[in-house]
Amino acid sequence: MAEKETGQLSEAQIAVHWREEKYLHPSTKFIAQANMTDKTICDRFSLDNFPDCFKEYADLLDWYKYWDTILDTSDAPCWKWFAGGKINAAYNCVDRHLDKHKNKTAIHFVSELESERIEHITYQELYVRVNEVAALLQDFAGLKKGDTVTLHLPMTPDLPITMLACARLGIIHCEVFGGFSGRACADRIIDSKSNVLITIDGYHRGGRFIDHKKNADTAVNLAKKDGQAVDKVLVWHRYPEKYLSPTPMVEGRDYSINDLLKNYRGKRIEPVQMLAEDPLFLMYTSGTTGKPKGCQHSTGGYLAYATGTSKYVQDIHPEDVYWCMADIGWITGHSYIVYGPLALGASTVIYEGVPTYPDAGRCWRIAEELDVNIFHTAPTVIRALRKVGPDEPAKYNYHFKLMTTVGEPIEPEVWRWYYKVIGKSEAVIVDTWWQTETGGFLCSTMPATNLMKPGSAGPGLPGIHPVIYDEDGNELNAETGAAGNICIRNPWPGAFQTIWGDRDRYVSNYYARYCKNKDSKDWRDWPYLAGDAAMVAKDGYFRILGRIDDVINVSGHRLGTKEIESASLDIVEVAEAAVVPVADDMKGTVPDLYVSLKPGYEPTEELASRISEGVCEAIGKIARPRKVWIVNDMPKTRSGKIMRRILGAISNGKDIGDASTLANPEIVEEIKKKVSN
Ligand code: PRX
Repeated sequence: MAEKETGQLSEAQIAVHWREEKYLHPSTKFIAQANMTDKTICDRFSLDNFPDCFKEYADLLDWYKYWDTILDTSDAPCWKWFAGGKINAAYNCVDRHLDKHKNKTAIHFVSELESERIEHITYQELYVRVNEVAALLQDFAGLKKGDTVTLHLPMTPDLPITMLACARLGIIHCEVFGGFSGRACADRIIDSKSNVLITIDGYHRGGRFIDHKKNADTAVNLAKKDGQAVDKVLVWHRYPEKYLSPTPMVEGRDYSINDLLKNYRGKRIEPVQMLAEDPLFLMYTSGTTGKPKGCQHSTGGYLAYATGTSKYVQDIHPEDVYWCMADIGWITGHSYIVYGPLALGASTVIYEGVPTYPDAGRCWRIAEELDVNIFHTAPTVIRALRKVGPDEPAKYNYHFKLMTTVGEPIEPEVWRWYYKVIGKSEAVIVDTWWQTETGGFLCSTMPATNLMKPGSAGPGLPGIHPVIYDEDGNELNAETGAAGNICIRNPWPGAFQTIWGDRDRYVSNYYARYCKNKDSKDWRDWPYLAGDAAMVAKDGYFRILGRIDDVINVSGHRLGTKEIESASLDIVEVAEAAVVPVADDMKGTVPDLYVSLKPGYEPTEELASRISEGVCEAIGKIARPRKVWIVNDMPKTRSGKIMRRILGAISNGKDIGDASTLANPEIVEEIKKKVSN
C-alpha cells in the first residue's frame, strides 16, 4: 500500500507477510453430512446469474408475500433487496419452528457461575417470552413499527428475547455492546433518537457482579444534555425476583421489566408484516471520524443472507448445537448467535462470561456438557486459550465438526493450533472475512467443497465477487503479488442499506472511491469499498491484511482512532493526541496513545493513568491504550499535521523511513528514546 505522508501507519502496513501455506482437506465424515456439497453452487451464483441467484437464500425463509423486484437499484447505491416482499424476522426465527420443534432447545443459556445449572429455553418457551415482551413494548412503552429503541444489554437470554420482540413489531433495535460505557451508549441513543432504553441491573463477568444499571443513568443524563430525552428506562433483572444493582431505580422513569411482565402473561402479538426493505436493526461501528456510524440493516435481505451463510458456511442443521462465543452486542452475535441459527431452528448457546473463567477448561466443559458440535470464535480468544490452557481441550470429551474464526487475520501457527488442539484434527475450519456493514460473511472457504489454507480467508462466497484495486482503480490480480484495496463488485442481500441519517457519508465512505459515474443506476458502477487491504493468491483465496483507514482492530473489534483521541482531549491537561495501532501477540493490534500537554502541566504517572481511565470511561475498557506516552511535542509536518506514521513506526519498533518533511525532526529521537526505554 502506498503510504500517505501525513496518514498514520495503517494496520495493513504492520501486517505480517506470511508465506504460502499448505492445504488441508475437510474430512469425508464432514462432507458426508454437509448442507452444501454441490460444487456447481458457484456457477449458479456467478455474475451471469446475478441477482436472481439470491432467491435460493430467500427461499430458506417463510414470506407472507414474495417480492416484486429481486434487486431494486433505482436509488443506487442504496440497494433494495426483495423489494415489495413481506416478511417478519421473529416469525422466521421462532413461530415457524413450533410445528415440528416446539419442544426443542432454542437457547442454551450458560451463566458465568458454574454452580448455576444451564437454562434450556425451548422454541415454545422462546415464543411465549418474545410475545409477552412484545406486548409490553407495545402497550406499556408505546413503541410501534419504525420506532428506534436502544438496548444496552450483556449476554443473557433477555437480549435475544428483546431483539426478537422488537422484530415482531417492526421496532428497530439498536443494541449497544454491554461492555461499552454510559457515554458510548448516550452517543448511540442520541444518534438513533431513541426515547426508550432497555438495560439490566447487572451481570456476572470475570468473577464479579457488574453494576450495569449505573451506565443507564449516565447515558440518559448525557443524552438529555444533548437534547435527546429518554422517557422510559426498562430494566431487566438478572434474577427475576431480585434487584441486584446498587444504583437505585428512578421513580417515573425506570421500570422493572420482570415486574411488568406479570401483566402480560399469556399475551400473544401477531407478527407485523414488514416490507423486506424495512430496517430490522442498527449496529454502530467505528469510522474514520469520531462519530460512530449506525449501520442500517434490512429485514428481508439481511435475514436471507444471515440464514443462507449460516446454513452453507457454518453448516448448521436443525439438530446441531451451535456455540458462537462472540458477544451479541457486535454484528457477529446478531447474525450468527441470534438471527442465522434461530432462523434455521438450531440450538444456539449463549455464554454470559469470559472464556477462561474460572479456569482455562471452562469452554470445554460447556462444550462437553451441551455436546456442542459447531464452535465459533475469534483469533484473540484462540491465542488466549493457547497461552493459558494448551492442554485443556484434550481433557474433555467433545467433538466439533466445524469451527469458525472471525474478526481479524489469524496467524497460520495459531490456525494450526486451533485445528489440532481445539478441533482435535477433526473439525473443518472456516476463516470468515466480513464486517458490521456487510451483515454476513463475504470471503471464506465453503467447508465441504474447498480446501483449507491457514491464514487465508478464502475465495468470495457464492454470489460475492471480490476484486482488489490499486489507488488508481487498476485491478491487482494474483500475478502482481501486490496488496491493494479489497472491494466487492456487486451488491448482496446482507449489505447494510445506509448509515442511519447520513446517506452522504454512506456513499462517500463505501461507494464513491471507485465509482466512475455517480448518476448511474447500474450496480456494476458501484463497487463496495471494504476499507481493508488484501491480496489474492493464484488459487483465488484472499488474504486480509488489515484496515487501511484510521480504525484499529482490537481483539476483533473496530475502534476509531479519532474516538480515542477525542476522549483523551477531554482531559484538561491534554493539548494534542494521536493514536496508532501496535502489533500485539494476543489482541492482534492495540492502541498506543501519544499526548502532548498544555503549557504549565507536568507529565506524571498519575496523569497518564487518568488519561487512560478517561478513554475507558468514554468508550469502554476495550479501548484502553497499551500505553499513554506523554511527549513534549508531536512530530509534525511544516503545515502542522501530526505524522502518525512516524509514531506508529516508533511504537512498532520499525524504521521510521523518510522524516525529511518534518518541521521538528529532533523530536523523533526524543520520543524514540522514551519508547525504547
Ligand atoms: O479488518 C477486517 C477485520 O475486521 C473488520 C470488521 O470489523 P467489524 O465490523 O467489527 O466486524 C467484525 C466481525 C465481522 C474487517 O474490516 N476482519 C474481520 N474478519 C476477518 C478480518 N480480518 C481478517 N480475517 C478475517 N476473517
